[in-house]
Amino acid sequence: MAISQADVIIIGGGAAGLMCAISAGSRGKKVIVLDHAKQVGSKILMSGGGRCNFSNYEIEASNYISNNPHFCKSALSRYTQWDFISLVEKHQIAYHEKTLGQLFCDNKAKDIVALLLDECQQHRVTIETKCDIKKTIKMGKHYKLQTSKGEYLCQALVVATGGLSIPTMGATGLGYQIAEQFGHNLHPRLPALVPFTLNPKMLKDFNGLSGTSIFAEVTCNQQSFKENLLLTHRGISGPVILQISSYWQAGDEITINLLPDNDIYNDLKQAQQHTPNSQLNTLLSEYFSKKLATRLCELWFNNFYKQAIANLSDKQLQNIAKHLHHWCFKPAGTEGYRKAEVTLGGINTDEISSKTFESKKTEGLYFIGEVLDVTGQLGGYNFQWAWASGHAAGQSI
Ligand code: FDA
Repeated sequence: MAISQADVIIIGGGAAGLMCAISAGSRGKKVIVLDHAKQVGSKILMSGGGRCNFSNYEIEASNYISNNPHFCKSALSRYTQWDFISLVEKHQIAYHEKTLGQLFCDNKAKDIVALLLDECQQHRVTIETKCDIKKTIKMGKHYKLQTSKGEYLCQALVVATGGLSIPTMGATGLGYQIAEQFGHNLHPRLPALVPFTLNPKMLKDFNGLSGTSIFAEVTCNQQSFKENLLLTHRGISGPVILQISSYWQAGDEITINLLPDNDIYNDLKQAQQHTPNSQLNTLLSEYFSKKLATRLCELWFNNFYKQAIANLSDKQLQNIAKHLHHWCFKPAGTEGYRKAEVTLGGINTDEISSKTFESKKTEGLYFIGEVLDVTGQLGGYNFQWAWASGHAAGQSI
């Protein structure tokens, strides 16, 4: 079989890989993208509930977790959310801000994949799917790849294989293996932006309430987020839990404020004056669903919640406030890579140039996107990192 040659070979046709292909292709480089999956951009298609939260109006380095918090700054400043928004507008893709600056397609995430494929086509990028990479060999200044579709030779090899989440959609550890092959160090990897599981006792406590959503503030390891929390069959999820999961480690306690925008002690004091005969569960139904309000009362205030509110002591009101504003417990674990949106940790960024994304250890080898130790918060930050790092590498190769 003849050897296929290119200036640039990109392993992984996800968000970062396709953006890098466009960026290098627009500079006249001959680019080949190799992906083992049936189609490229699978995670884009499933993202944002099918509408792809492709970026955010507010992008800061503080929205990213990394052992080197400065690493992401250069690329993010050279390819900003406004650059990607311009591309979206150039392709006449309708979009909207959903909440907290988060930008979603009005229609389908496939519009973003179509945009990327259209740009790839304009810049004569070759895309090979169902291509298994068997071996990566460095030969002088070139890289040779042995694959299920024959051999490939290139001057610049870009690894854009993403993280470990959702293995059924094609995630593998190949990028980490290639990094180690060329002497790179990895930071420990963990599932992040992932639902928590609860112990059997807590699951029983909240039995029958799955699907219930609560606006809450969740705190762990000095980080707090205020968004919706969702009770599920296995534990707790929703944006606020996905966010905090990235800052949580096994055994850590989380604190949930179930009424972050209220002072329930004061509200109940008022109720003692204005509706002295009302019961606590009825009063709490103004904040939560009736079913949840009653369940919380049964779990936490069973001895006294059926009394008229006027009869409750100050100590009891303080106890109610403590439970509702400072609910502390240890999640049993997470739902793992099967349900995680991203992987925390990855290739040590100290060994990668933040300007070019080239390895500081091996010339011509580049790493971009989620495979690196850069993890965005929920809200379009991970795609913006993929676009920015892909663009930076494509401009420098
Ligand atoms: P990505 O995972 O996109 O691409 C990696 C590519 O490499 C894949 O095409 C894969 O097939 C290929 N590959 C892997 N192993 C290979 C091998 N051995 N050989 C060849 N090819 C290989 N982010 C965000 O900002 N907004 C959002 O709305 C969402 N929503 C969301 C939902 C869900 C369910 C998930 C799982 C994730 C998100 N994300 C997200 C996160 C986002 O999808 C993710 O951070 C980016 O896709 C990362 O881009 P990469 O290009 O680095 O990897």
